[in-house]
Amino acid sequence: MSMNLLVKNIGKIVGIDESGRVSVAGKDMGDVAMLENAWLRTDGERISDYGTMENLTPADGCEVIDAEDGWLFPSFCDSHTHIVYAGSREQEFLDKINGLSYEEIAKRGGGILNSADRLHDTSEEELYRQAMERIDEIVSMGTGLVEIKSGYGLTIEDELKILRVIRRIKENAPLEVRATFLGAHAVGRAYKGRQGEYVEHVCNDMIPAVAKEGLADFVDVFCDRGFFTVEETAKIIETGAKYGLRAKIHANELAISGGVEVGVEHKALSVDHLESMGDEQIDALKGSDTMPTMLPGCAFFLGIGYPPARRMIDAGLAVALASDYNPGTAPSGNMRFVMSLASIKMKMTPAEALNAATMNSACAMGESKNYGSITRGKVANFYITKPLPSLAYMPYAHQTPIIREIVLKGKHIKK
Ligand code: NIG
Ligand code: FE
Repeated sequence: MSMNLLVKNIGKIVGIDESGRVSVAGKDMGDVAMLENAWLRTDGERISDYGTMENLTPADGCEVIDAEDGWLFPSFCDSHTHIVYAGSREQEFLDKINGLSYEEIAKRGGGILNSADRLHDTSEEELYRQAMERIDEIVSMGTGLVEIKSGYGLTIEDELKILRVIRRIKENAPLEVRATFLGAHAVGRAYKGRQGEYVEHVCNDMIPAVAKEGLADFVDVFCDRGFFTVEETAKIIETGAKYGLRAKIHANELAISGGVEVGVEHKALSVDHLESMGDEQIDALKGSDTMPTMLPGCAFFLGIGYPPARRMIDAGLAVALASDYNPGTAPSGNMRFVMSLASIKMKMTPAEALNAATMNSACAMGESKNYGSITRGKVANFYITKPLPSLAYMPYAHQTPIIREIVLKGKHIKK
């Protein structure tokens, strides 16, 4: 049970939204509503009210947090991660330093298949332990809602194993979790050279088994050069839809893959990566409810070009940011650093980056009615920083620790 909270002496509440909208698009992404010299109250899991200090009524037996002029932000929503994995892959990091590309490493049987081998040899208990260390890490950096993908199993047994670990995280972690089935992350070793048969196996056997145990909220496909085709992607997301799983697609990381178009056509919740984007792909997203999601930690780590965020926002789109936390292309779940990369490398303003990492990334999980802003009635997921000179300070001083207090689902979990 969470005790009701009163946070007082807040320098600024950041990211207020009472409009009822589910995402922030185009020019509006540049605005973040704030309230100075404020208090905020929770009722159980939810935010009940906030106001300015002049109008503060006395605390009535609730727990009081004195923000001491620190700022209060909505928790980050990280809509794309792969944080359940075994061990690490720094040998491939060295290979990349020595000149191999991500695709070359994958072709040699490394990459995702390397992680699948390790996951196979690791117990559920040990996988859970390793993943919970990463969960503690992202919680301490301000994340309050996270999506976690399977995709390092690639056999029925091992996909169920990784999804059960995600379910256990859901049940025990302080933050909110959504699970995505990503059987089509790579072709499992047993199906080498038989990609079509593997796709059949994903559709006919894996998805029904996953759905039977209720282990996934969403379905994902790595739709890219050297991985799965547009036709295969369509087949998998159509099968997922029959079982109530909405799609989130890995698209256009390595090439313009058709992944954006097939995602939009099938009303995917999001299309993610987008390092390769032409004007046609941006046009395809206009007027759709599919959230384009960028993962600049991946471009940073692989040394590839960044997604064209400015072109997308200037075209009027809403865009989201996520970490992609995984052992091969983004071994970090630091959403504040993701914001910094978005500002430094993609020329998103700090306000745009914050909207992209909160409201819009919540929308990419279908959860922006409950998460992603400071709103009466939304889940009380927020963190309190030390006093800040400006919003821009946050992505600017990107390694300076600023978080003092964390509240998740109305529960004060850090001091
Ligand atoms: O989002 N691109 C596909 N999947 C992951 C990487 C997975 C891995 O290399 O382990 C990504 O970048
Ligand atoms: Fe990914």
